[in-house]
Amino acid sequence: MATDQTALADAPAASPTVGPGSDVIIETRNLTKIYRDFWGRRKVAALKSLDIEVRRGEIFGLLGPNGSGKSTTIKLILGLLFPTSGRVLVFDQDATETRKNERIGYLPEESYLYKFLTTDETLDFYGRLFDLSAEERKRRIDELVNMVGLQGARHRQLREYSKGMTRRVGLAQALINNPDLILLDEPTTGLDPIGTRDMKDLILSLREQGKTILLCSHQLSDVQDVCDRVAILHQGELKELGRVSDLLKVQDVTEVHARGLSDAAKQEIAEVIRRHGGTLESIDNPTATMEDLFLNIVRESERRPGARRVSQADTAAAPATSSSANEERK
Ligand SMILES: Nc1ncnc2c1ncn2[C@@H]1O[C@H](COP(=O)(O)OP(=O)(O)O)[C@@H](O)[C@H]1O
Ligand SMILES: [Mg+2]
Repeated sequence: MATDQTALADAPAASPTVGPGSDVIIETRNLTKIYRDFWGRRKVAALKSLDIEVRRGEIFGLLGPNGSGKSTTIKLILGLLFPTSGRVLVFDQDATETRKNERIGYLPEESYLYKFLTTDETLDFYGRLFDLSAEERKRRIDELVNMVGLQGARHRQLREYSKGMTRRVGLAQALINNPDLILLDEPTTGLDPIGTRDMKDLILSLREQGKTILLCSHQLSDVQDVCDRVAILHQGELKELGRVSDLLKVQDVTEVHARGLSDAAKQEIAEVIRRHGGTLESIDNPTATMEDLFLNIVRESERRPGARRVSQADTAAAPATSSSANEERK
């Protein structure tokens, strides 16, 4: 199951590994949550004996389908819920010790922001909750508005914002207290590919600032693109844990990328592979992801408004209407 042998090996079960000088920021031990109904009857086992460690400075992903226990884990870390059994340690303190939350930033699955306030007013409100001085609030708000790219819209009310802009305000709000640990619950939900890319870049820039990030998501690409390590949950159980690069590595397959090869060169390479006893599975042009394609088209369109691009396959199938059908046209 767990392939992250080192993580398991350096975590002694008896003594806490989370501490001021320690590199473990969050540790869950045998963490279990069973939701009960109004009568106290056992209803849903949302989380079953979860053991994970989140280390300083990493982006740790909790990946799982809807209902697999991701949000429950985040709420247990924040102390918003009590575990049925097991515990969570955050910064060496029990998660139910809510004072530790001063060092945590939290982006909930749905941000409940007051829609008649502007970005500046919203951030000012949260800055006051953290007792920041007027001067500090001003400095921090300027910094965050720039970081999330809302300079042009900061004085507009949130009710006029798109989903992507609202998510950016949510992130800025989560960062107002300059937290060491950031918990992001489905940060890209509802965002278009550009909003998603921007959010991922923001998350990566937070890691560069030395923050520790726990991100939960059901979007495979979020986790693949930004996380250092990932835990895969299903129905409340940990199914896999390890470095993203290790989990995705296909053993025994060698990948070579080259540009500008002639057909003769390709044949020669195929021959070399055969001579060394290997099996040539494919020698082909790589396909880009839909995301790459879409982002390229949008960026190109921003650079050259009005230009239209038609793919070669499409024009080959359709009757040719003009000799330049293949090219970009106005
Ligand atoms: N307050 C609650 N009361 C009862 N069941 C809940 C409650 N919150 C979540 N659950 C259940 O716990 C399971 C895990 O939910 P959740 O942690 O929200 O999953 P995820 O965030 O991975 O989608 C689901 O089956 C969900 O229906
Ligand atoms: Mg959730």
